[in-house]
Formats: sequence, structure tokens, C-alpha cells
Amino acid sequence: MESHQRESHLQHTKLGRRRCRVILFPFPLQGHINPMLQLASILYSRGISITIIHTKFNSPNSSNYPHFNFFSFQDGLSEIEASTADVVSLTSLLNIKFLVPFQDCLVKVLSNNVDHQENSDSSTGCLIVDAAWNITQAIPETCKLPWITLRTTSVCSFLAFAALPLLQENGALAMFDSKSEALLPELPPLRVKDLPLVKTDHPETFVQLVSDLVVNQIKISSGVIWNSFQALEQDSLNKLHQDFPIPMFPIGPFHNYFTASSSSLLSQDQTSISWLDKQAPNSVIYVSFGSIAKVNKTEFLEIAWGLANTNLPFLWVVRTGLVHGAEWIDPLPERFLEKLSGRGHIVKWAPQPQVLAHSAIGGFWTHSGWNSTLESICEGVPMICQPYFGDQMVNARYVSDVWRVGFHLERRLERGEIEKVIRRLMVGIEGQEMRDRIVSLKEKVDVCLRQGGSSHQALEKLINYIMSL
Ligand code: UDX
Repeated sequence: MESHQRESHLQHTKLGRRRCRVILFPFPLQGHINPMLQLASILYSRGISITIIHTKFNSPNSSNYPHFNFFSFQDGLSEIEASTADVVSLTSLLNIKFLVPFQDCLVKVLSNNVDHQENSDSSTGCLIVDAAWNITQAIPETCKLPWITLRTTSVCSFLAFAALPLLQENGALAMFDSKSEALLPELPPLRVKDLPLVKTDHPETFVQLVSDLVVNQIKISSGVIWNSFQALEQDSLNKLHQDFPIPMFPIGPFHNYFTASSSSLLSQDQTSISWLDKQAPNSVIYVSFGSIAKVNKTEFLEIAWGLANTNLPFLWVVRTGLVHGAEWIDPLPERFLEKLSGRGHIVKWAPQPQVLAHSAIGGFWTHSGWNSTLESICEGVPMICQPYFGDQMVNARYVSDVWRVGFHLERRLERGEIEKVIRRLMVGIEGQEMRDRIVSLKEKVDVCLRQGGSSHQALEKLINYIMSL
């Protein structure tokens, strides 16, 4: 247990019995597990007892959270099914396979209302589920437990997802051109190519999932928790309130309450930090494309040469499985890193929040996943956005065109373009302007989280709401 978590634990056990229990059900992908466990820690620090129900597949490390109760169930997912690169198929499959075992587990947890960690019993206030679970079908009729949704994406990307079923109905999706720069009148400033689509072998399943998980589910949940904050997404939040008049709680960014990386599924290579310690302030470009995106070998080599040709130091996360058809960094030319004389460092997985907080980091080349985007904003690190699918497309457009804290890498992945954009960010005047803007955005985060700030108030509202359920 991290020291601040331990303190918080002690502080609240001293306060006596916890006020009520909440059951949380994370979706088993890295970008979903992180915010759910951060939320659990936030609620725990406010005196709420935490029970986590999770799948065996990608299960969180319970030993990092000794003050939570963990229950798991067999999801029946085979190794081949779990290794699919098709996120739509995986989401659909998990939803089909989890239904019955989750129900059984929930009934068991509810009937055994004891908090093992606190050694007391406390009434269950509600269930908090990741929005990627189609929970409406999963809560047994007999159990009248209210449930709140956690959305791990931005509000702006949610609104774009919510528009998809209508675009499908009026035929616009069928004419979708992934290169079209045309503005979408329904969703400014998005262009047609920014629609949050996902490449899949089952496009009909994708639109059905969006209808079920985005539009229908939100309408019947008791409320929605957002890992976002008002100063960033005021306009989108206003629109959200108009379209979906249910309680909304934008309490983010979550990781600013609890910075520990204890929910990482992969082990984080600490040489990232010792290597950064040797670099000059603001000099390093950090490169990571999150936990799902993939590149082909040609793109991988263009990235490698683009980075090498900048003559700037870089820290690059190359996940096992990032490069289609390669074990790891084997497509790199022989002695590629040695020839850079220590200017480049490649790891399989980094302690990303600590990396972004390091004074040597000057920029972040990202796939624009929402967690990565928030983590970058919170550390005042300007970005280069190269989105791959879904919500990343929308986040990238907002980063570059609305918040203006990053460049959008719109063209083909090519070494000359890469070198140019990295230099613009790291040593150009525009890059410095972006750095100034993101530092002032970071200050707004601090204000939101302070006593009386918008996220702080939303959290107070959420706690009172949970107690009232
Ligand atoms: C995907 C979507 O892109 C994202 O927008 C959605 O909300 C969740 O699913 P992912 O590809 O995992 O997420 O990206 P991101 O949301 O950025 O989350 C990645 C998480 O992994 C971040 O919290 C980041 O700190 C962590 N990470 C990443 C590491 O700890 N080490 C690394 O080397 C890279």
C-alpha cells in the first residue's frame, strides 16, 4: 500500500464504521481499470466501504488494495478469445459471457453483507459499473440495487458516440470517408474523419453496442460519474445536461487524488525514471500509444527513424504486441539504439504518471486515450496527437483545435513529417505557446479540485447522493 493510501485508510478506520458500501464493477482493460480503481480510492477516502467484483481475465492486483474487498468470477473466456485485437468483438463477447456469472457473484456478495476488511457489516448503497458493461440485462430482477455508470471517456467523445445511431439511420455513416476533412455540422469542431468509429469485422455489432451502451443505458442509470472537469468541458457538459437530464458528476481528473500506479496490469519499467534523471529539463519527448493500439512494421520503422532524426532525447514505450507480426523491437535495424549513444530509451511499459511528472519531459506523443490526455494536462505537458480509433479521434481534435495544447499528426506516418512535428513541439515557438496554454490549464485543474472547486463540489454531491440511495 502506498503511504498516502495507508494514511487515508488509518484515518478512516479511526473514524469508526464506514458509512455505507459501494460495489464497483470495472471493465477488464487497462484504460478502464485505472479510473475505476482510482474512483474506488477516492470513495474510500470519503468513508465508503469498497467491494470490487471483477473478471479473472485482466484481474486487478488485489494485494495493492488491502482495504478493499475483492470478489472474482470465471468469465469463461478462452486465451484465443482474450487475445483478439478487435475491441468491438471483445467487448461484445465479454458482455455475453459475463452476464450469468456476474449475476451469481452479485447475489452472493449481496447476501453476504459483511465487509471483511472493516470486520463490520454496512448496507450496500449502490453498484458503480463501467459503461462498457451492458448492465441493464445483468442486474437480476429480484435485486433492486440502484446503479451509477462510470464513463472513462471524455464528455465530448461521448456526445460524438451518442450521435452515431442517428447518423446510421439517416445513411451518413454508410458514406463515411475516413479521410474527409468536411466539418460535421451536428458536432463542431469535429470533421467527418474524427467520428469515433472502431475498425472491426462486425460493424453492425459496433453500432448496436453504441446504441445500447451509450444512448440507452445512460437514460436509465441513476447517474453518471465522469473523469473530467468543468473548466475543460463546460460546453459539452451543458449539452449533456440538455440531452440527458439525469444526475451527472464530473469529479475528475481522478488520478490527481491518487497518483499511485497500483492498478497497472503490466510491470512498469523503473529504468524510465533513472534514465530521465540524466536528461536536461524539458528536453525529452515521451512516446506511448496506450494499451490497445497497434502499428505495422513500416509505421514502426518510420516512427523509429523520425525519432532518431530529431537529434532530441526520447523515451518510447513499445508494448509487447504493439507491432503487428513482431515479437518486440526486432524490426529495428541492428544496433539502432547503440548508435544513438544513449539518446533514446525504449521500455515495454513505463510508470506513465511519474514519467509525465518528470521535469525532463518536454512533450508527449500520444494516441490520445482519455487517461493519457488527462495525465498530460495535469502535468502541463503539451502533446502530439495520433489517434487510432473510437474516442481517441475526438479527444485529438479537441486537444488540437479547442484546447490548443497539442499538434494533430494528420498526415501519413512518415519520418520527415514526424521529425518536423516533434521539432515544432519541442523547440519551436508554437510549441512554447502550447506549453504556456497547457500550464494554465493545469492551474485550472488545481482550482477545480480545491475546496469549493467544481470537481470538489461534484464529489460532495456524489457522496451525498450515494448515501441517499
Ligand atoms: C482506451 C481508450 O483509448 C481510452 O480513451 C478509453 O478511455 C479507455 O480505453 P488506452 O489505450 O488504454 O485506453 O489508453 P489510455 O486511456 O490513455 O489509458 C492508458 C493507461 O495506461 C493510462 O492510465 C497510462 O498512464 C497507463 N500507461 C500507459 C502506463 O501505466 N504505462 C505505459 O507505458 C503506458
